[in-house]
Amino acid sequence: MKNDIEMLHIDKSYNGFNILEDFNLKIPRNKITCIVGPSGCGKSTILNILSGLTHQDKGEITYIEESLISYAFQEPRLLPWRNAKDNLRLVLKNKMNEALIDSHVDYWLDSVELSDYKDYFPNQLSGGMMQRLALARAFAFPSNLLLMDEPFKGLDAPLRHKMIALTRKLWQQENKTIVFVTHDIQEALLLGHRVIALGGKPTTTLDELEIDIPVEDRKIGCVKLARQQGYLYDLIEHGSLGVKNCPRIQQIKNRFYDQKSFETLPCDDEKHPRKL
Ligand SMILES: Nc1ncnc2c1ncn2[C@@H]1O[C@H](COP(=O)(O)OP(=O)(O)O)[C@@H](O)[C@H]1O
Ligand SMILES: [Mg+2]
Repeated sequence: MKNDIEMLHIDKSYNGFNILEDFNLKIPRNKITCIVGPSGCGKSTILNILSGLTHQDKGEITYIEESLISYAFQEPRLLPWRNAKDNLRLVLKNKMNEALIDSHVDYWLDSVELSDYKDYFPNQLSGGMMQRLALARAFAFPSNLLLMDEPFKGLDAPLRHKMIALTRKLWQQENKTIVFVTHDIQEALLLGHRVIALGGKPTTTLDELEIDIPVEDRKIGCVKLARQQGYLYDLIEHGSLGVKNCPRIQQIKNRFYDQKSFETLPCDDEKHPRKL
């Protein structure tokens, strides 16, 4: 699976309102692409078009037919009448040799630290445990494209950060191509190899950032990420006003890209203490 997926010149409208107009998005293989933007800007619509749940009015998507897709949503969507082990078994059934399924289920339960709860039903698990199981299910399904639609929305901050760390670990194990949608800029910066900021009506790509810090080294509060976070916050705030190509957006971009010296700042402040 070598070719990148690309959404090209996509139009999509609902009830006469253009949500996407000439929208383009490149999704590099085996990387995490995060899409960040305000509520209602069309993030879920993009995932739905990628998965085929919704059809675009115009435009094409390259190499999507080569992709086997799994989805992770905000709600864990587990089957309440099946225990943890069987919720996982279900996505592996008919996808591999029956004799291998049990060892795979054990492996995935262990990956998300739920081995001791394999016989528990969803209503016996905490919200965080259910999300971990749902994450394991999304990774366990033999997909090569994983679409994640605000899967950690509504979790409290410590749990959300645990889930981000777990997602990074599972990505390192599996190297799946991931499109992760969120309205949370920090979440996007902690997780994405690329972060796409959306805003405006119809939705415009305000900027695309390549985050060159290895995912395992990202830390809340590191100077480089904090600067990117401030930039994206400004950009999305102004972009959401719906003013395409407005001078303020250009100013925000210029201010960010002109201060190149920041680019050399290390992320890991403990290994590289800053001189104050
Ligand atoms: N099935 C639908 N029918 C009509 N309007 C829709 C439908 N799905 C989404 N929309 C509209 O499209 C816009 C984008 O929605 P959505 O993609 O869910 O945004 P986001 O995920 O960024 O919050 C919203 O204005 C929403 O009301
Ligand atoms: Mg949505």
